[in-house]
Amino acid sequence: MLHVRRLTKRYGQRIALDGIDLDLAPGETLALLGPSGCGKSTLLRCIQRLVRPDAGDIVFMGQSVLDLEGEALRAYRRKVGFVFQHFNLIPHLTALENVALGPLMAGLSREEAFSRARDALERVGLVHQAAAHPAAMSGGERQRVAIARTLAQRPSLILWDEPTSALDPVLVDEVLAIMAGLAASDETAMIVVTHEIPFALEVADRMALMDQGKIVAEGEPREVLFRSEAPVARRLRKVYEMRYAGLYQQVLSRRGRNGSPRSRSVHRPPERPSALAWI
Ligand SMILES: Nc1ncnc2c1ncn2[C@@H]1O[C@H](COP(=O)(O)OP(=O)(O)OP(=O)(O)O)[C@@H](O)[C@H]1O
Ligand SMILES: [Mg+2]
Repeated sequence: MLHVRRLTKRYGQRIALDGIDLDLAPGETLALLGPSGCGKSTLLRCIQRLVRPDAGDIVFMGQSVLDLEGEALRAYRRKVGFVFQHFNLIPHLTALENVALGPLMAGLSREEAFSRARDALERVGLVHQAAAHPAAMSGGERQRVAIARTLAQRPSLILWDEPTSALDPVLVDEVLAIMAGLAASDETAMIVVTHEIPFALEVADRMALMDQGKIVAEGEPREVLFRSEAPVARRLRKVYEMRYAGLYQQVLSRRGRNGSPRSRSVHRPPERPSALAWI
């Protein structure tokens, strides 16, 4: 459904995207990982036509999107939802009104727009908060409203730009669980920029690694993470081992033997949390 070809974007001397090729099938979930500044957000912004690339092409459902204007561009943007790190809800509107706004602007009747908004809030488990204003919600709830706002547009592709990185750890799980449910439903394709390696491993159909404006590895998530020799893959493996594969416990036990104050807590058997523990 989506084909990105030789996409290039420069900001002055800096190359943000350096000949990106990417394909996405309907319903597919692609996790996109890479170091800060490697071009992940720029790629998503180009796909949503928020940023104009210098060269290359983006073909969505058989049509190049780079020449779209006016109503055709607005219609395209409704098919391609975007969930940002910061939710950008309108503060003086309720959750329901925030979600209904898109369908209203797309020309749906009030009744239809609010009914869609209610359905979308139900899907993110927030229908009971329909009348609440963003200021009265937790960060996780606000991000779920932002997800509902995207779902209410019935997109066939959702671009996620680090949707959990502004949330505190307890709230991350509730948003990831909703994303995992959407990925499993196969009704929308998704490109997910994330640092949540377990999510990428367990939920995504494919993983792509970016470095300095290029895609340096791509394929089945485990193959990419555990077998790629790209420097980015090596760094990610270290992070994965450190965070999720028990290395913390080893570090703590070493400190314990040296008589640090942590020594009381280190004699627990090393935990190997399931990568799915947070769902
Ligand atoms: N509007 C802009 N003007 C100038 N340079 C920009 C602009 N947007 C991005 N860049 C540069 O392009 C490169 C890619 O930026 P981008 O935001 O796409 O990275 P990223 O992979 O999303 O990083 P992060 O993980 O920190 O969000 C960076 O070097 C950045 O400084
Ligand atoms: Mg970014």
